[in-house]
Amino acid sequence: MRLTLIGTGYVGLVTGACFAEVGHQVVCVDNDAAKVKLLQEGGIPIYEPGLAELVRRNVSAGRLRFTASTAEGVEESDVIFIAVPTPPLADGAVELSFIEKVAREIAAAMSSYKIVVDKSTVPVKTGDKVAETIKRYCKAKVEFDVVSNPEFLREGFAVEDLMKPDRVVIGVRSQRPVAAMKELFAPFDSPVIITDINSAELIKHASNSFLALKISYINAISVLCEATGANVQEVAQGMGMDARIGRRFLQPSLGFGGSCFPKDLSAFIKIAEQVGYDFGLLKEVQRINAAQMDRFVKKIMETLWVVKDKTIGVLGLAFKQNTDDIRMSPAMDLCQRLQKEGARLRVHDPKAMEKAAAVLKEVTFVQEMNDVATGCDALVVATEWGEFKKLDLEKARRTLTHPIMFDGRNLFDPVEMERLGFIYKSIGR
Ligand code: UGA
Repeated sequence: MRLTLIGTGYVGLVTGACFAEVGHQVVCVDNDAAKVKLLQEGGIPIYEPGLAELVRRNVSAGRLRFTASTAEGVEESDVIFIAVPTPPLADGAVELSFIEKVAREIAAAMSSYKIVVDKSTVPVKTGDKVAETIKRYCKAKVEFDVVSNPEFLREGFAVEDLMKPDRVVIGVRSQRPVAAMKELFAPFDSPVIITDINSAELIKHASNSFLALKISYINAISVLCEATGANVQEVAQGMGMDARIGRRFLQPSLGFGGSCFPKDLSAFIKIAEQVGYDFGLLKEVQRINAAQMDRFVKKIMETLWVVKDKTIGVLGLAFKQNTDDIRMSPAMDLCQRLQKEGARLRVHDPKAMEKAAAVLKEVTFVQEMNDVATGCDALVVATEWGEFKKLDLEKARRTLTHPIMFDGRNLFDPVEMERLGFIYKSIGR
């Protein structure tokens, strides 16, 4: 099938590449001419495992191309995906002006029947607004259908999540676009659920909020574990073996971050407020998340007593592993808090140092993770990168002025760390 994706961010670019990979003819549109040029020249603006190769393969097979012209994208395809940003506003609501602008551009360029699919995360009832807008601005008065198809990919695992989705959600107002949408997703061989548009939009916010809730839940349990001498990893393991609960997203941490959970929680609370419901449960999820970071900083302060003029090594800057994304990153937040307390920082991240350098000033970026500890008063693990588990602990112990480690991601075994001579403080154990 021929399809167009408008917006080449995480969702648009990876989705476009995956659709091309399964044989569709894909045009990716972006209004950022510099980004389009970079993509046309074979560059990839983000780090996502497997993406560069996927794009290269499909561009050379002639199934994937990039343009800055929305009109061209609309003309060439039967199905148009909207995958533009929906950033948060100051009051927690969602900025929908990019969606509205793209809807107008699509409307202006339409000269035959199109299926317009919203993939961006939007508040419930946005589909109605998109349909109204297209109707209003489409001079050619051609027929169209609006569909909601929320995306569930995780950064760092985006290609994997898209090629093997747990489910595909398709929200429609009529049966007309259903066959085409099913055909589009047929190669992915995953369960498809057809709903009304409002339900599809709600599924996305409800899912992300639930996952954030799950993380805050285990983080709250970690507080109880610390107070009672229990081990949160064992509690999570025991809980997760109940198939109704499941082990995933029960990893305690110094809090969740990124461009999705914090924003989507605020948006969902706001959406609920607008329809007259006080979503107190989700406000508590936010409160627990913020408190988790406060508790971690307090742990560092109490152990080191005075942080001012101490040197602290920080492993991790990205908001999670396998990405260079630092948006709403707990690791970045932690660095800034430590700097505010007067600490000097030596930091390392396998992929996010370039992006972090634009934000973090007066820190030493260390290229090799095993060199971070040198001369530091303590070492902090802030991001759950798999390679940090391979840290040369013997060298770290030797090169730290005092062998103290704060592990905000529970990457190491406390018994082993003590055996190696570390003062080791992690989360909930
Ligand atoms: C999240 C959802 O998981 C995706 O399904 C969704 O499509 C995406 O938002 C989106 O709305 O676009 P993402 O933000 O990329 O994906 O990353 P996650 O893997 O969900 O991690 C989010 C944060 O939670 C990270 O800071 C991570 O470190 C933290 N986390 C995750 C924990 O602290 N504990 C866990 O057990 C899992």
